[in-house]
Amino acid sequence: MKSAPHAAAAPAGSGAAGTGSLIVEVEQISKRFGSLQAVDRVSFAVKRGEIFGLLGPNGAGKSTLIRMLTTLVPPTGGTARVDGHDVVREQEAVRMAIGVIPQAMTSDPDLTCEENLTVHARLYGMRPASRRLEVAASLLEAVDLLDRRTALAKTLSGGMRRRLEIARGLVHNPQILFLDEPTTGLDPVSRMSVWTLISKLRETQGLTLFLTTHYMDEADKLCDRLAIVDRGRIVVLDTPAALKASVPGAAVIEARIDPDWPEAAAEFGRLDGVRTVTAQGEALYRIVTDRGPQAAVGLVEFARARHVALQSLSVQSTSLDDVFVHFTGRGLAEAEASAPAAPARPGH
Ligand SMILES: Nc1ncnc2c1ncn2[C@@H]1O[C@H](COP(=O)(O)OP(=O)(O)O)[C@@H](O)[C@H]1O
Ligand SMILES: [Mg+2]
Repeated sequence: MKSAPHAAAAPAGSGAAGTGSLIVEVEQISKRFGSLQAVDRVSFAVKRGEIFGLLGPNGAGKSTLIRMLTTLVPPTGGTARVDGHDVVREQEAVRMAIGVIPQAMTSDPDLTCEENLTVHARLYGMRPASRRLEVAASLLEAVDLLDRRTALAKTLSGGMRRRLEIARGLVHNPQILFLDEPTTGLDPVSRMSVWTLISKLRETQGLTLFLTTHYMDEADKLCDRLAIVDRGRIVVLDTPAALKASVPGAAVIEARIDPDWPEAAAEFGRLDGVRTVTAQGEALYRIVTDRGPQAAVGLVEFARARHVALQSLSVQSTSLDDVFVHFTGRGLAEAEASAPAAPARPGH
């Protein structure tokens, strides 16, 4: 058995239960709802102790995938094992190995923080009551809510409630925590506190974290590896750094000139290291280049020589959005806008 996260902090990955270094193994898993193929023959594996993410627009199939891995909906094809157990044939064993934090807020607003945890511990048959209190206290400490022990959940900020729910997901000492869009709808400060907690859980407990997000900055900051999903399929899977490195052009420059210059795109295309130039209208140009700073200097020199004003100039390194565009042919925001209208199912 892995030592309890709510016991003294265990060193990362110490004595993990189960077999092998893979905690999730998915082969050709599919889910069809009527005529809609929500998840389409997806295969991947998650290593113990990593923070693994699914990044994709609304409707991509992220929640459906998580629900299959957490035994909440049966796949219509393929297989998946979690902590060595088949998600269809060994549901009970899978459920003991996992903690699940759904997207909707699920803590009871009229219970205190402590009660939210002790009630949940009782559900898992934890005895005696003193043990439940002990576990609640150490989990509240782990999520930095010990000073709110007797506060009603409804008095907490969104970020605090999310942290309380993460604590609740840890009550039965799972091997892996599934978080579906853990920061959607939270304010920036709350989001950051949830990010800090997620990283800390991995560092101090050696817990594996599996999360979904449609925020690129979140995927980039948090995940050791991530799969970009679109229309039920994994488009590409790697570390954020490798994904960004796989896109040609290390930097994107946006420049607005005044007045517009008929030959601007052609001239920018001849600058050092420039790969592509796209005119975006209103004298705004998007320039993908291998050498951001040099190309920016070239732009300034161009402007001076032509007596053209540079109204704005920004140089950005490749983002996951560029990765998404590169592999799917459209931007993440665009994909969100074109996602099939989801039926009204709150929290998904
Ligand atoms: N229970 C369901 N019945 C019918 N369609 C569903 C159901 N659950 C999800 N879908 C559809 O499957 C697709 C993927 O949904 P979902 O997994 O929730 O995507 P995501 O979490 O990436 O936003 C969407 O088109 C959604 O409308
Ligand atoms: Mg979802």
